[in-house]
Amino acid sequence: MKPIGILDSGLGGVSVVLALKKAYPDLAMVYLADQIHAPYGNKSKQEICEIMESNIAWFQHQGISEVLLACNTASSNALEYLHEHFPLMKIEGIIDVTVNQIKDADCVGVLATTATIASHAYKTKIETRLNARVIEQAAPDLVALIEGLADEKLLSVVLNDYCHSIKECDTVILGCTHYPLVKDLIAERVSGEIVDSIEPIIQSFLNREYPKGDVVLYTTKDPQNLQQQIEIIFKEKVEVLKGVVK
Ligand code: DGL
Repeated sequence: MKPIGILDSGLGGVSVVLALKKAYPDLAMVYLADQIHAPYGNKSKQEICEIMESNIAWFQHQGISEVLLACNTASSNALEYLHEHFPLMKIEGIIDVTVNQIKDADCVGVLATTATIASHAYKTKIETRLNARVIEQAAPDLVALIEGLADEKLLSVVLNDYCHSIKECDTVILGCTHYPLVKDLIAERVSGEIVDSIEPIIQSFLNREYPKGDVVLYTTKDPQNLQQQIEIIFKEKVEVLKGVVK
């Protein structure tokens, strides 16, 4: 069995990979951090689809046939497109599993990238499952600040703004895999229960067969820089390779 491919624009996917490794230490994964294109969230749907097509072709080239989009922006904008273009591959998004974990809510706040909010993928999915009001809030600068390892002061300024509209919601979805990295700062600004994509992704590997082996990390940008980012944020020393996507 070939490793599972995991794809995101950067540190959000790293948090997914590390959480999966903790839960399933023998799970074989190849992670591609497409940092050269980060942030995805400020791009058009068409650009996101084109970038994703090249990235999935990169996995296909390595013989990998199952890829998890550890990215809400790609899941909400490019999943159908990728299914059409790669009919023989298993490509999974994370919007449905994230919403499915909410059992009951009156008001759901969705904090996500501009492209995810523009797709209304969360709103649509929530409204088919729950009788809840949905407040969508885009956070255009947050991914770039997280990737840039911005300090708490700077993050606080933008989060004061982004969290204002959703602060009274009983449930808040962190609709971007980068946001759990600033979950404590968000929790200080909203009163509802915070849910993200990491736990349901872990659950999705329960009771299924999965490939056993190592974890290999690639970035499309600067391997040394991602190594440093991972060391600073996750306190993990790992090797990162250069992924050349055509
Ligand atoms: N972590 C991603 C997401 O879940 C990508 C964010 C971005 O690159 O803008 O949406």
